[in-house]
Amino acid sequence: MSKAPVRVAVTGAAGNIGYALLFRIAKGDLLGPDQPVILHLVDLPQAIQACQGVIMELEDCAFPLLAGAKASADGAEGFGDVDYAILVGAKPRGPGMERADLLKDNGKIFTGQGSAIDANAREDVRVLVVGNPCNTNALIASSRAKRTNPANYTAMTRLDQNRAMAQLAARSGKPVSTVKNLAVWGNHSPTMFPNWFDATIDGRPVAEVIGDDAWLNGDFLKTVQQRGKAIIDARGLSSAASAAGAAIDHVHSWATGAMTGDFVSMAVPSDGSYGIPTGLIFSFPCRITAPGKYEIVQGLEINDVARAALQKTTDELLGERDLVASMLA
Ligand code: NAD
Ligand code: LMR
Repeated sequence: MSKAPVRVAVTGAAGNIGYALLFRIAKGDLLGPDQPVILHLVDLPQAIQACQGVIMELEDCAFPLLAGAKASADGAEGFGDVDYAILVGAKPRGPGMERADLLKDNGKIFTGQGSAIDANAREDVRVLVVGNPCNTNALIASSRAKRTNPANYTAMTRLDQNRAMAQLAARSGKPVSTVKNLAVWGNHSPTMFPNWFDATIDGRPVAEVIGDDAWLNGDFLKTVQQRGKAIIDARGLSSAASAAGAAIDHVHSWATGAMTGDFVSMAVPSDGSYGIPTGLIFSFPCRITAPGKYEIVQGLEINDVARAALQKTTDELLGERDLVASMLA
């Protein structure tokens, strides 16, 4: 007997990431090859016609797992009964901007959407915020979680993890699948810390395989921290297909338990682990312990280099939290 369909809302559905994301969800990449899905395409009123066009294209793909799709600009309808909400809809930055420059315009989107999700989604809804600055936008949305579970409000740093793994694979000449336990800590911003101290390549410590600490502490960190900017400079647009791919990876791991036993980078509400202030949406190495359940990996050694980096990214997130204090419920 086939499974009951799962409802997935995607905001910013008419945008660049939305276009790269929806077809992969409908194909089964998000929730698995035997899980039917109903898509809720959420966007601004002026983008609903474009969403209808995307729905026509989704239909024309004849995806066996697509059990329905609708477009809405209304929070109650858009998030009604959804099991997953992937919040992409927000302005992207342009050349010369930092992601935090978007806070004033984008932050307010997440007050209304946080309330609409809490009022209308399923109680166990799982939320991924992609729209930047994603950690603090997720904080705004999660502050409205009264009926739903605040721990299920997360932000995306899996793209940064994927970028870091790809850099290590290229430098070592090994397949990316041999890079394990590389987690990105902190904010999705230039202060993020891709912590290579815990990571391995082919089961051996990264430092031993790479044999070049100056590169690891220098160009490697800088490349990962500035990759979003490099893509904007080259494309004139921010990352879209790779961002959609990382959103799929984040939710797929969380929902299905794929990658159990390995680290996955997820920005989640801090429970005070590693001295990070409680409640900040902070990227930690997480482990998926069962489908739908994550835990922050405990007991990792934090050396002086890592401690200084964690302090810097924490301070930045505390500053962002102060800036949006009036938007927190
Ligand atoms: P885009 O401009 O192509 O699309 C944005 C879409 O969001 C548009 O369709 C717009 O109408 C819609 N939108 C705006 N306000 C909305 C609202 N209140 N409700 C619903 N929809 C709304 O942008 P994009 O390239 O798809 O990027 C979207 C966001 O994702 C940006 O903020 C970008 O910076 C961010 N991003 C994050 C990561 C990450 O790793 N966390 C990676 C890439 C991009
Ligand atoms: C990225 O990392 O590619 C996105 O956050 C887009 C950006 O503004 O850098």
